[in-house]
Amino acid sequence: MTHDTIIVLDFGSQYAQLIARRVREQRVYSELLHWDAPAEQALASKSVKGFILSGGPASVYEPGAPTLPAYVLESGLPVLGICYGMQLLAHNLGGRVAPSQAREYGPAEIELLDAHNPLFAGCSVQVAGDALQVASLASDLQPAPLPPATLPVWMSHGDRIERLPAGWQALARSTNSPYAAMGDPARGAYGLQFHPEVTHTPQGAALLRAFAVDICGAAADWTPANFIAEASAAVQAQVGQAHVLCGLSGGVDSSVVAALLHQAIGDQLTCLFVDHGLLRQGEAEQVIDTFQRHMQAPLVAVNATEAFLADLEGVTDPESKRKRIGNRFIRVFEEEAARIAAQWALPAPRSPTPALRAGASVLGTDEPGSPLPAPRTIGYLAQGTLYPDVIESASGSREQAARTIKTHHNVGGLPEDMTFRLIEPLRLLFKDEVRAVGEALGLPAEIVWRHPFPGPGLAIRVLGEVTWPRLETLRQADAILLEELHAAGLYRATSQVFAVLLPVKSVGVMGDNRTYADVVALRAVTTDDFMTADWARLPYDLLARISNRIVNEVAGVNRVVYDITPKPPGTIEWE
Ligand code: XMP
Repeated sequence: MTHDTIIVLDFGSQYAQLIARRVREQRVYSELLHWDAPAEQALASKSVKGFILSGGPASVYEPGAPTLPAYVLESGLPVLGICYGMQLLAHNLGGRVAPSQAREYGPAEIELLDAHNPLFAGCSVQVAGDALQVASLASDLQPAPLPPATLPVWMSHGDRIERLPAGWQALARSTNSPYAAMGDPARGAYGLQFHPEVTHTPQGAALLRAFAVDICGAAADWTPANFIAEASAAVQAQVGQAHVLCGLSGGVDSSVVAALLHQAIGDQLTCLFVDHGLLRQGEAEQVIDTFQRHMQAPLVAVNATEAFLADLEGVTDPESKRKRIGNRFIRVFEEEAARIAAQWALPAPRSPTPALRAGASVLGTDEPGSPLPAPRTIGYLAQGTLYPDVIESASGSREQAARTIKTHHNVGGLPEDMTFRLIEPLRLLFKDEVRAVGEALGLPAEIVWRHPFPGPGLAIRVLGEVTWPRLETLRQADAILLEELHAAGLYRATSQVFAVLLPVKSVGVMGDNRTYADVVALRAVTTDDFMTADWARLPYDLLARISNRIVNEVAGVNRVVYDITPKPPGTIEWE
């Protein structure tokens, strides 16, 4: 893929990924690299059209603070520094950066000093109380002097610029920052003291678009349709005639991988669904049913509950649970891959089996008696790895290269002696892009907008030891929660909602009897990226209905609590 690219260099901002996502929302392809990624990596593609330098927590004059890589200015390409990135530009080009007397954090208003600057083209500015489109103003041949035009923005900085580098001009100011925006338009270089990437800067998207499209001249060609065409071609070239096994969980990522691969390589794809017994109520049947209704690829469904539960016996530590589940997953995958390949080699035709049962069941498209395809072997394993996982595991930074992916965000890692090669067609996409691609591939809303479900499933929601009776208790409570959430029309308004079975009992009274029974916690969050999250303000009446139903309908539960912890400091899951 050779899209015009904006490289975002990450100087440690919590918003760095957001910058790349916002640029991509303008349909311009953007990649995020650690600030000290090697120049060859940043300039690997001839299609780099500009750089954005993110914010960061350091001060430019501190010893050891991240520095501006030389290639950024040497390239002569346009550059936009945001907050720390802006201060770095000023510091490197002879300006002066100093601690601000008042740390500025939160909403602010900036006054544009040059509303005709191309950076502001497309912004709706406030002029004496009226919203005006700068683009129309900027197109005047003889622009008339404007009354002060202002923009609401989001500030978050301690240091500020006190003297501009030679040749630069102030483009905007705020009460606290004489240089809220600065630029050297002749070289396409700009700095913003505020954060255009956050939603609290309503014109931020217009600013980023002006930079990427107008100033850098990048083509706005990053669309789901283009991605699908290019990813399909890349997959075809990569796998050739080989066969691909795709693990299907029913979640949006693996479903989009399956749909994309099926479009690209047709019956060279086989999907494998492993029921580990840690799924929600009715989920295995639902995943199989949805898959059969919407996808044509062969699906092998395996019920390996017994093996997974045996591995979890007596285990209470969350990381041990994850590791054991991950290891078992890989083993089941390898066994099934071998079994599928052996079946292909057999002279007898495959017999379709209609439902999930213990052991392997092949839900194939072959009619009994149909001629067997030529012998095949599985060369590739498809995974739904996304861009944030790629950035996290190795963004090219020397510092980060040593970091391993948290066991947390995959199913335990892949063994080194694995016989398959990996294929990860979504590794360039953010979650919202995966959803857009899913929609473009025609997947139904029930898949595209499904809340994420962790690989280790309910094992990390039954706190303490995982047993079948406790899983069943949790499944019943969780099913009531989801049923009521759907009935209230709040599924799409929330990002992830689930029940947790606590490892403590509490005293209660039911009828005339004292009870001493289990406690269920309800968790409902809203989030854009799952890295931070807030607890959902579910209506009290809905919570009351859910609590009432759980205590009445789920045997062994006498108390329901609602988790009101944001992330951070909490995590979304309890284990
Ligand atoms: P936390 O709990 O870290 O979760 O706030 C963030 C997101 O990651 C999911 N999650 C997992 N997903 N394997 C997964 O595939 C895991 O071990 C795992 N742990 C957490 C969690 O559900 C949320 O969406």
